Amino acid sequence: MENILQQTRYASLPEAGLQKQDWTHKSVVMEKFEKYDADQRGTVGEIHVADPRMTCRNVDVFYGDAHAIKDVSIDIGRNEVIAMIGPSGCGKSTFIRCLNRMNDTIDICQVTGEILLDDMNIYGKDVDVVPLRAQVGMVFQKPNPFPKSIYDNVVYGPKIHGLVQNRIEEDEIVETSLQRAGLWDEVKDRLDQPGTGLSGGQQQRLCIARTIAVSPEVILMDEPCSALDPIATAKIEELIDELRAQYTIVIVTHSMQQAARVSQRTAYFHLGDLIEVGETKKIFTNPRHTLTEDYITGRFG
Ligand SMILES: Nc1ncnc2c1ncn2[C@@H]1O[C@H](COP(=O)(O)OP(=O)(O)OP(=O)(O)O)[C@@H](O)[C@H]1O
Ligand SMILES: [Mg+2]
Repeated sequence: MENILQQTRYASLPEAGLQKQDWTHKSVVMEKFEKYDADQRGTVGEIHVADPRMTCRNVDVFYGDAHAIKDVSIDIGRNEVIAMIGPSGCGKSTFIRCLNRMNDTIDICQVTGEILLDDMNIYGKDVDVVPLRAQVGMVFQKPNPFPKSIYDNVVYGPKIHGLVQNRIEEDEIVETSLQRAGLWDEVKDRLDQPGTGLSGGQQQRLCIARTIAVSPEVILMDEPCSALDPIATAKIEELIDELRAQYTIVIVTHSMQQAARVSQRTAYFHLGDLIEVGETKKIFTNPRHTLTEDYITGRFG
């Protein structure tokens, strides 16, 4: 009897969207799955903030038939750093790609629901994604400078967006952006050299400078330090903290220490659901959902 019950339960796992890799932790998954299923769907914690820069409501994402993000609603506050955490495959990258319509580039991907940047529905019919992606810039996991000089990497965006009219303005934007990204002193004497010749940590700061150069309102960072050593990581983390004064930052990270160090709010995703969101300190010291607790204590994921 127990066996049949087990088989039936396992048979329902793929429908529930569980990933193959999760099957290696079958017993853990089953235990969580039962608790999880018994819970009413919905996010624990406060999804609202007093001064939202972005407002996401009932966001669903499908890759073909696969339901990758399930009815997620969350505000992203002005000048806050919000960390997105959760086990591999839970939808963190998928969700942050919704915030600047990066998922549009994936044919089978369909996004529904509402996402506002201030009062603008970013999925509105008349929205041009090119300026949108300048307003909501993105820094990727692997630094990806253009095969151009350091100078040209930074000035490229401002040129296409018509933010600079002459060489003096170009010089100024290059210097300011590199300074804000904490890279100026290291590269000011070799601006004409290729961006790809920099170290990994420097390349990532160059990519941040490139993002900042077009005056974004929000910066999305998908595991920006995962290819970096601890010293380069510490520099980026310091930088994130400084940038918060001017920008809103959404960071995906697998490092809970990093989330705790850099963010003011944390959102925990699990199998496409936003399970819990709240003040980072509270999430890490007193999580309300068992799944969040299990993840942050290392019992799951
Ligand atoms: N381009 C794609 N086409 C089809 N399915 C995808 C695509 N990208 C992601 N998925 C699926 O969507 C789900 C969420 O993936 P996503 O990459 O958003 O997870 P993640 O939380 O960022 O994981 P990781 O921590 O490993 O980066 C997974 O089941 C994944 O297989
Ligand atoms: Mg990811």
